[in-house]
Amino acid sequence: MVEPNVLVERDGRVGVVLMNRPRQLNALSGELMDAIAAGLGELDDDPEIRAIVLGGGERAFAAGADIVELSAATAVTLYENKRLERWDAIRDVRTPIVAAVSGYCLGGGCELAMLCDLVVASETAMFGQPEINLGVLPGAGGTQRLTRAVGKAIAMDMILTGRMITAREALAHGLVARVVAREAWLGEAKRAAREIAAKGPIAVRLAKEAIDAAFETPLTTGVELERKSFFLARASEDAGEGLSAFLEKRKPDFTGR
Ligand code: CAA
Repeated sequence: MVEPNVLVERDGRVGVVLMNRPRQLNALSGELMDAIAAGLGELDDDPEIRAIVLGGGERAFAAGADIVELSAATAVTLYENKRLERWDAIRDVRTPIVAAVSGYCLGGGCELAMLCDLVVASETAMFGQPEINLGVLPGAGGTQRLTRAVGKAIAMDMILTGRMITAREALAHGLVARVVAREAWLGEAKRAAREIAAKGPIAVRLAKEAIDAAFETPLTTGVELERKSFFLARASEDAGEGLSAFLEKRKPDFTGR
């Protein structure tokens, strides 16, 4: 029987997509990328799902683009089959995505984690952009997103030397949000996703959009966008519920309206 490239599960309001090419350390083949995009898209379209976890295995989140495929590709086939454009579908997912990272998170794997909204990493995780060792450079956003996440000094160091950094270093540099014990990488990511899923989904999505906009817009424009998003969220039934629940000293029950 052929193993599926990803395993998709639902746990209440949390959807989980687990990459499933353990023998290749979840090297991101075209098929695996398509399966990830399809799994995330399916969960994003499901109104019951309010947060998603994207994970790999214990030994690797993902060890980068599939080097076997990359070595067979030419510039023209890469351009023609829109291989890297597939990543845009993941960027466009509106439901928040928590990356659950254990082990190697390299090259395209690190770029995939950076496309997620927050990263929970096992203390065993290793992050890197080692493409330079292959005679290329990151091709799925690494030079841009890593620089925005960790700043020029560390991005230059990681990308020009191929040096890997530990989860603790990644935390110190702002690449990951939480570092957890080795065995807790998936459980803690699911817990973070459940925390998000318990909030009002309209406010959550607007907040995600506004934070992402901070990387694309001047400050005044971003603050204006935030203000309008705040007004929009205030118009939702969930805002009425959240504010009343606080005043009535009870837990809010957000319905997504
Ligand atoms: N593509 C294809 N296969 C890969 C792979 C990759 N990126 N990474 C690992 N594998 C395969 C190995 O070839 C090996 O397969 P076999 O058992 O059939 O030989 C298997 O996974 C296990 O790997 P190793 O035996 O190498 O395991 P290790 O523990 O000794 O080393 C590692 C682990 C340090 C992650 C090492 O595998 C490695 O350096 N991998 C490549 C990392 C890399 O260069 N990533 C960048 C890819 S280019 C890219 O991502 C471009 C982009 O920006 C889009």
